[in-house]
Amino acid sequence: MATVITVANNKGGVGKTMQAYQLSTFLAHNGNKVLVIDLDSQANLSTTLGVDVRRTLVPEWLIGDVDAEDVICPSEGKHDFYKNLDVIPSSRHLANLAKLLILSEAEVRKNAGRKERLLRLRLNEIKDKYDYVIIDTPPMLGDELIMALVASDRVLIPTQAQDYSIDGLEELMDTFEIIKESENPNLDFNIIPSMVNSRRKLEQVRLEELAQSFNVTPGIRNLVDMQESISLRKPVFLMNRKSKGKKDYNKLWDSLGFMQQHQE
Ligand SMILES: Nc1ncnc2c1ncn2[C@@H]1O[C@H](COP(=O)(O)OP(=O)(O)O)[C@@H](O)[C@H]1O
Ligand SMILES: [Mg+2]
Repeated sequence: MATVITVANNKGGVGKTMQAYQLSTFLAHNGNKVLVIDLDSQANLSTTLGVDVRRTLVPEWLIGDVDAEDVICPSEGKHDFYKNLDVIPSSRHLANLAKLLILSEAEVRKNAGRKERLLRLRLNEIKDKYDYVIIDTPPMLGDELIMALVASDRVLIPTQAQDYSIDGLEELMDTFEIIKESENPNLDFNIIPSMVNSRRKLEQVRLEELAQSFNVTPGIRNLVDMQESISLRKPVFLMNRKSKGKKDYNKLWDSLGFMQQHQE
């Protein structure tokens, strides 16, 4: 049964898609069967994994109008790990989700009880085919993010320096708490410092403060490496030994317990 991991932050440009890309490719490279679900209508993760669809069928899949086989696509690229990696791609049509959910209210209620549970319901039908499901989410606290939190075992929250405070994360934490109390009591989260500038003393101090209240992992520095990783479609584990991005991610995966399965 797959472990479901959502990458979430209601702010944009904090490195969500980057974490989802590095994690899903790393896990696939280590021999895990991985399903990536792109719930951001910008579809950056789908594109980086070699999947471009004109029109996503995610809303129809959630409602139950189409089967999982109709939305799952193989990822595409020249490395071996792609064969372990499937994608449920997004497109700008994902913006229709809210509308479709309203129009299909009766159907949704019959199927899942509440719309928040739809993704969990659909994942339960296909989860045994995968070791991991990695979900990328849009930069807002909408249906997509809430459904993903309800369906997940674990949430990774990339966070930038300006939000290294409980205030900066307040909105997301409130939502998180509500979901934990109502739908998903075992939901766990880690804060991942993202695009860290290690020369700034103040950032370090605020991070240490944050780590007193929350689970904070080792951070990922702000690196040219990382931008290249996306533009060249080359995950950091394929970069050379000197790559700082590779070092940072190895530390991160180690701290999150993903490293044990590393076989190279
Ligand atoms: N550690 C990093 N160092 C440098 N650039 C990064 C890093 N992480 C992400 N980026 C870049 O920052 C931008 C925003 O990242 P992205 O993952 O798309 O954020 P989000 O999905 O939260 O909107 C992208 O251009 C990405 O390539
Ligand atoms: Mg993104």
